[in-house]
Amino acid sequence: MRSHYCGEVNETLEGQSVSIVGWMHRRRDHGGVIFIDLRDREGLVQVVCNPEDAECFAVAERVRSEYVLKIEGLVQLRPAGSDNADLRSGKIEIIAKKLEILNASETPPFPLNELLDVNEDIRLRYRYIDLRRPEMQQRLRFRSQITRQLRHFLDSNGFLDIETPILTKATPEGARDYLVPSRTHQGEFFALPQSPQLFKQLLMMSGMDRYYQVVRCFRDEDLRADRQPEFTQIDIETSFVEEEDFMNMMEEMIRGLFANVLEEALPNPFPRMTYAEAMDRFGSDKPDLRISLELVDVSDLMGEVDFKVFSSPANDPRGRVAALKVPGGNNLSRKEIDDYTKYVGIYGAKGLAYIKVNDIDAGREGLQSPILKFLPDEVISAIMQRVEAKTGDLVFFGADKATIVNESLGALRVKLGHDLDMVERGWKPLWVVAFPMFEWDEKSARWHALHHPFTAPRESDLALLDSDPEKCLSRAYDMVLNGTELGGGSMRIHKTDIQQKVFELLGINEEEAQDKFGFLLNALKYGCPPHGGLAFGLDRLVMLMTGAASIRDVMAFPKTQSASCLLTDAPSPIDDALLKELNIRLRKNPQAE
Ligand code: AMO
Ligand code: AMP
Repeated sequence: MRSHYCGEVNETLEGQSVSIVGWMHRRRDHGGVIFIDLRDREGLVQVVCNPEDAECFAVAERVRSEYVLKIEGLVQLRPAGSDNADLRSGKIEIIAKKLEILNASETPPFPLNELLDVNEDIRLRYRYIDLRRPEMQQRLRFRSQITRQLRHFLDSNGFLDIETPILTKATPEGARDYLVPSRTHQGEFFALPQSPQLFKQLLMMSGMDRYYQVVRCFRDEDLRADRQPEFTQIDIETSFVEEEDFMNMMEEMIRGLFANVLEEALPNPFPRMTYAEAMDRFGSDKPDLRISLELVDVSDLMGEVDFKVFSSPANDPRGRVAALKVPGGNNLSRKEIDDYTKYVGIYGAKGLAYIKVNDIDAGREGLQSPILKFLPDEVISAIMQRVEAKTGDLVFFGADKATIVNESLGALRVKLGHDLDMVERGWKPLWVVAFPMFEWDEKSARWHALHHPFTAPRESDLALLDSDPEKCLSRAYDMVLNGTELGGGSMRIHKTDIQQKVFELLGINEEEAQDKFGFLLNALKYGCPPHGGLAFGLDRLVMLMTGAASIRDVMAFPKTQSASCLLTDAPSPIDDALLKELNIRLRKNPQAE
């Protein structure tokens, strides 16, 4: 139907006839002449309808926003002084010779030709219209470019693209499963994969050597700006490699991607940081290194102070007292400090002590704080020295279980960074390594796998599985970029006895292990190669690279925060007949039961 995309018509076509199709973006009536901006995937072009061309003009008078048009016309340079530098087609216009309405449109629920802050629910309900906006088109195009580039790297490095089942058995990645009832096996359910983890390991056991897949994963978990119930991984696994070589290869892939797509040079190599150091200095296993603020441990100074809030976590092996110095923070108002105190409350912190440094040379007299009275001189001066406080600074304190202090001060650090404009520009990737195998969960009073239960312990730490599981480090690694976990993976357990021992530690008894993972335990017996891999979150990668605020903005058809699809109204009730076929009866009043 078309000879050119709208956005591609430019001055090189001057004097030629073209045929374009697209949506009516904007119409202006200029004293007898009608201007139409026609829009397609590649951009806008200005079309001129002159009244002398009566037939054409009559149609132009009828067209409205978002009508689908076909226009044939002659390309000519715009009159001097009327170029539009913002458009690729801004030096020319098309004199319409034939104008055809291919389809009419009702008035769209929101205009596409002016910048409006449209409510996201409306955008999602009319996603097909929202996706016509150049910004959204750009992001999806960019996403396609990124997957193409990643596929190209993996294809050229001998990775095979292999599909794995969607109707399958639960894969534990820490979230709830989405379940699908089976009609042929009544009372039984498939689980949608939280990741292809076990299948990719089985592919290594099948001798495929190098695998990848651009794959949809499903997790029923609390949603946030960087989490969706279904999302896409670039999932990778390889046999007979050590983590060093594998991580180098993954780094090279991401560096290449940034260089080719964004023309940005990422560091070579990426810095590495142990989990312990990341938690200690940043309170997070995905530190945003663009922000220079750091947590400083002061637990050792607080053991003896006459302030229980500090002394009791200081004397608890799982407790922590940490300081966070804010350079120049002394001018934060009472209200701002109260707001930050509320903010850390979200993460379970019971308060947010602080000391304002009015004059560092004046000792205790130069400081201002509700907790000074509890702290002896030598403790105060030791704190000031350790955080290298200067006049004009403010020092925040967190004291609690280490997990709470890290989470709350870690989040506060990032918030302060943004609020006080202390975020450096550019890209700060790193690898976080040396994760513990397990973390203790207070609520359920048992060990949890920090990555997943198939992650290998370090060879040198094997004995710790029996003696001190908390100290046992794993062969896991996460790639972090600007405070977002882009991807994570590990070298895997490839020996039955170790896999069984890890299941045991996680409280999965033999019967349960057989029931849930019998196929894996069996496969491990038949010649399993050493193997390992990683999965990148494609949506997060695209979000970062496009500067989008949420992963919803880089997905064509995302779900809402409450995991529903406003466009199709899914999920939706099912006919009784269908339920009957599945042998499912809904509970009448679940709350009451
Ligand atoms: P993990 O659970 O760390 O590892 O997931 C890998 C990456 O997937 C992305 N991601 C998500 N993105 C959007 N919405 C979500 N709900 C969501 N959950 C995770 C993140 C994360 O880094 N099988 C292992 C990988 C392996 O060991 O090879 C796994 O799935 O960017
Ligand atoms: P209180 O004695 O409870 O009034 O607390 C004195 C100061 O300590 C206040 O500034 C509180 O915000 C702060 N505070 C209380 N609990 C904690 C805590 N767990 N961590 C850090 N600061 C706290």
